Amino acid sequence: MKNMLDAPFVTELVRTCTNMYAHGWDERNGGNISLRLDEREAAEYLDAPAAPRREPTGFSCPALDGMLFLVTGTGKYFKNVQYDPAANLGLVRLTDGGACAEVLWGFSDGGRFTSEFAAHMMSHAARLGIDPESRVILHCHPNHLLAMTYVHDLDERAFTRTLWQMETENIFVFPEGVGVLPWMLCGTNEIGAATAEKMKRGRIVIWAQHGIYGAGRTLDEAFGLIETAEKAAEVYLKIAHLPWKQTITDDALRQIAAHFGVTPRAEYLD
Ligand code: 13P
Ligand code: ZN
Repeated sequence: MKNMLDAPFVTELVRTCTNMYAHGWDERNGGNISLRLDEREAAEYLDAPAAPRREPTGFSCPALDGMLFLVTGTGKYFKNVQYDPAANLGLVRLTDGGACAEVLWGFSDGGRFTSEFAAHMMSHAARLGIDPESRVILHCHPNHLLAMTYVHDLDERAFTRTLWQMETENIFVFPEGVGVLPWMLCGTNEIGAATAEKMKRGRIVIWAQHGIYGAGRTLDEAFGLIETAEKAAEVYLKIAHLPWKQTITDDALRQIAAHFGVTPRAEYLD
């Protein structure tokens, strides 16, 4: 049995937490990540206890029954994950139709999965319905996107168009646009279900006055989505109060999409 701390998926998750903290997206315990694991890859490192700790999730998610997830713990600081992965992360298997999570590794100080577990699991189920290779749900509180939700119209079309216009390649990175939820109470099944509903149409969901969710096949993909959207929001905030002399036109957006071979959400273009 190989050491779990040497598993590439643990190393990559730890690095992602450290990197996100360095970007200033995860103050205190802000943010959470879940990574769906390949059963065979995990088995090389997993010496599962005979009677694992069983934690109720408070929701059902039959589509994910039996699946393994490496997930950040609630109340854990991303800056600390690198120093003690076994306490800050946990490897769980969803059972009982998603109503229970068995802790197979980690959460070594008695901790449990993120308070946003519902949003993560329901979003995984939604993304898997579209893309069987989807593996990652990533949530954080990036400064500029957060700020933008105070001053920009929250209409998804308007929000997406602004982000697309802030750098030439943005429409290539998220051609499906972004979903936007109005302020809702976090850590609830309700915000989880609303997030998952938006995830059926795209990989980015913005929570007004809170943060962002990104989905992807890899940690890099989900990170890159958020990095791109966050940079767009930063550019927007630098210019929003200035008179605009020009922007990227809809014709140009169509040209970029055609050049990169992606299909932008048609109703978001004029
Ligand atoms: P957790 O510490 O429970 O993961 O919560 C952090 C957070 O960002 C809530 O939205
Ligand atoms: Zn949050």
